[in-house]
Amino acid sequence: MSVKIAERYRGVEGGLFSKVTKADVGDSFASMEGQVTLMGWADPFYPDPAIPPHIQKVLTEAVKTGFPAHYTMPIGSLELRQELAVKLKNFNRICADPRRNIIITPGSDSGLFFAMSAFIGPGDEVLVPDPSYPNNFLNVQLLGATAVPVPLDRENGYQLDVDAFARAVTAKTKAIVLTHPNNPTTTVFCREGLEELARLVVEKDLALIVDQAFEDSVFDGIEFVSPAALPGMWERTVTVCSISKGMGLSGFRVGYLVADDRVMDVFHGAAVNVLGATNTLSQIAALEAFRHPAFLQENIRAFERRRDMAWEELSGIPGVRMYRPESAFYCWLDVSALGDSTEIVDRILKEAGVAVNDGKAYGSQGAGCLRIIHGCLGDEEAARQALKRIAGVLNGIAGEREVKQ
Ligand SMILES: Cc1ncc(COP(=O)(O)O)c(C=O)c1O
Repeated sequence: MSVKIAERYRGVEGGLFSKVTKADVGDSFASMEGQVTLMGWADPFYPDPAIPPHIQKVLTEAVKTGFPAHYTMPIGSLELRQELAVKLKNFNRICADPRRNIIITPGSDSGLFFAMSAFIGPGDEVLVPDPSYPNNFLNVQLLGATAVPVPLDRENGYQLDVDAFARAVTAKTKAIVLTHPNNPTTTVFCREGLEELARLVVEKDLALIVDQAFEDSVFDGIEFVSPAALPGMWERTVTVCSISKGMGLSGFRVGYLVADDRVMDVFHGAAVNVLGATNTLSQIAALEAFRHPAFLQENIRAFERRRDMAWEELSGIPGVRMYRPESAFYCWLDVSALGDSTEIVDRILKEAGVAVNDGKAYGSQGAGCLRIIHGCLGDEEAARQALKRIAGVLNGIAGEREVKQ
């Protein structure tokens, strides 16, 4: 049977049996649980329980009614879509009609693939910033198209180099897939760069699929601009959002797509086939989260404390160039002056007992870098101790190689 698998799926390795490039899936990662500290899973406070009490309460009450045993519409509960329309207006500056412009998806990963599948097919080329979320590259491949990596500007905090995007466009280019804020670099793309990119998208008649899973945890008052709200972009953009990251509600598996009526009509038409419907109980949790989102601000304050802690522990190490996180609950370190990032990840695992991500998983521009989830574990002190152990290994390597600041 395996020879009958479609060409575009060949070479895709499953996490259950082998080491995968996306390091946080499958048995190989999960089996380390309890043996080492997992700082490679983008799930805030993992593995500690983190359901805000008001959400726990509505869930308990909902279970008693028995209603969650039933489907919602495949496009998601109208009540939730109405609440999301309010959030989209206030936070994203997007005017979305809850009946026509929003669809709820079982997590944003499946939403992202669903969104991409409507535009991308065999023979197409898709521009993907490098480094970025590994799914952006693999999804394009699974759809039979070619991902064209476009390097981000490392010297400018990994902002968009729109000239590089323009140079990469060919007659086959169909779309750009952007993760904004970017995972793994935490970069919040600035208005100027996004406006320039939007002009390119319009001029070259492209689609933009923008994954905003980390939009709700941006620090230091940095402006977050939703590309769909820029001139000419509403009808060209599919916006993909999630409750997994800032809200820390990943286990509920709720995401949502936002798009123009004509694009959304296609998603609505295909929803029952592709998505089924998102878990009813989870949609109840999401509704409560958006109605009473004060806990999100608490999470952001906790992420900021973790960010400062990681900065204190890791930024001064010889040979380490740390990017001060602009969003999220992880950090991105260029350790290329100390050697190969895969070897460094292995040494951190063996010597410090901490699993972190090799930058190579995020595109060729990620080679020589590490991604460390400083926001995992509920206990801040335990997280600090793990960071100290990582710092010990990096300092040790710097000493061995006589790398000076
Ligand atoms: C950039 C980005 N987008 C999407 C996702 C998927 O999130 P969800 O839990 O909504 O499927 C992740 C999860 O790691 C992510 O990092």
